[in-house]
Amino acid sequence: MNPIVKTLAILLLTNFGCRLFVDPPTSITTKIDGVDADSVVWVDGQTKTVTCEAIGGSPTPTVSLIRDGTELVSGTGSVSRDIAQTKSMNPVVIQCEATNVAIDNPITDQTTINVLYPPSSGPDITGYTGQVLTEGVPPTTVTVTCTVGEASPVPTLTWNCPVGSSSTGSNTHVISINRSIDGVTCTCSGSQSGTGWTRTDSVTFTVHYGPDSVTIDGNKRVYTGELLTLSCDNADSNPGVTYQWTKKGAVLTGQTQQTLTSSYSKNDNNAVIACTAVNSGTGTTATGSVSLTVDYGPDRAEITG
Ligand SMILES: *[C@@H]1O[C@H](CO)[C@@H](O)[C@H](O)[C@H]1NC(C)=O
Repeated sequence: MNPIVKTLAILLLTNFGCRLFVDPPTSITTKIDGVDADSVVWVDGQTKTVTCEAIGGSPTPTVSLIRDGTELVSGTGSVSRDIAQTKSMNPVVIQCEATNVAIDNPITDQTTINVLYPPSSGPDITGYTGQVLTEGVPPTTVTVTCTVGEASPVPTLTWNCPVGSSSTGSNTHVISINRSIDGVTCTCSGSQSGTGWTRTDSVTFTVHYGPDSVTIDGNKRVYTGELLTLSCDNADSNPGVTYQWTKKGAVLTGQTQQTLTSSYSKNDNNAVIACTAVNSGTGTTATGSVSLTVDYGPDRAEITG
């Protein structure tokens, strides 16, 4: 075409004909994997397809996809591009632009993307590392705290602990130390919406306790020379106990079982038999005792008169 004619045609179209033959685009939409960009859930590392599409406009608008100020792609009517987004890029501004001869400035749609990412660590329970606790020995409480590494969105932490109590609005759990928590497991569960991340940590308490008391079971009355078995019972203790029997305050060497089987002489009448149970971990002791009645006959029969 003759350049002069071409110039005239363009002048005619843009300066005189535009109000009649051209229309600006009415809008531009940004879609990510087919859904509205503002409602997208984008997780660290995911690649998603971003689409810019002009609605209306004559001639068909030129559309551009711009990320953080850099144009990635442009085309006519609609453009798409696969974008990989990681948390180190947060936040990323995605801008769609549409323009045609009917407007001086493109119409734009801007979306700020912050990808979601799970915590790099945790949940972690601190405050108890498996050490042996002892009932009645300070500290009287143990405070366990559940924490989780930085994440977006902030994960929800939930204690599942059959003992103690949680202070409202904190991830801390306070538990009294006594025998009822020996062997008890407390779990902290973390979960994160959007990413589907879930993880747990747990602790199991060990408490040493007892024995508080012992009882001695068996007959307290015996004939001389007769075998009698006494039993040292109810030594509730963790860890278990060892036993030591005594008679009249003197250690009965070798009598370290729960039961004592022995015979007694006339001299043992009213003797105190005692059993001491010793917690093999803490050394705590409990002692029980009985006073024995030893029946005996006449030493010999004497005939007098
Ligand atoms: C023993 O510890 C449990 C758990 O912490 C607590 O609920 C309970 O009240 C304690 N019992 C006593 C007698 O202190």
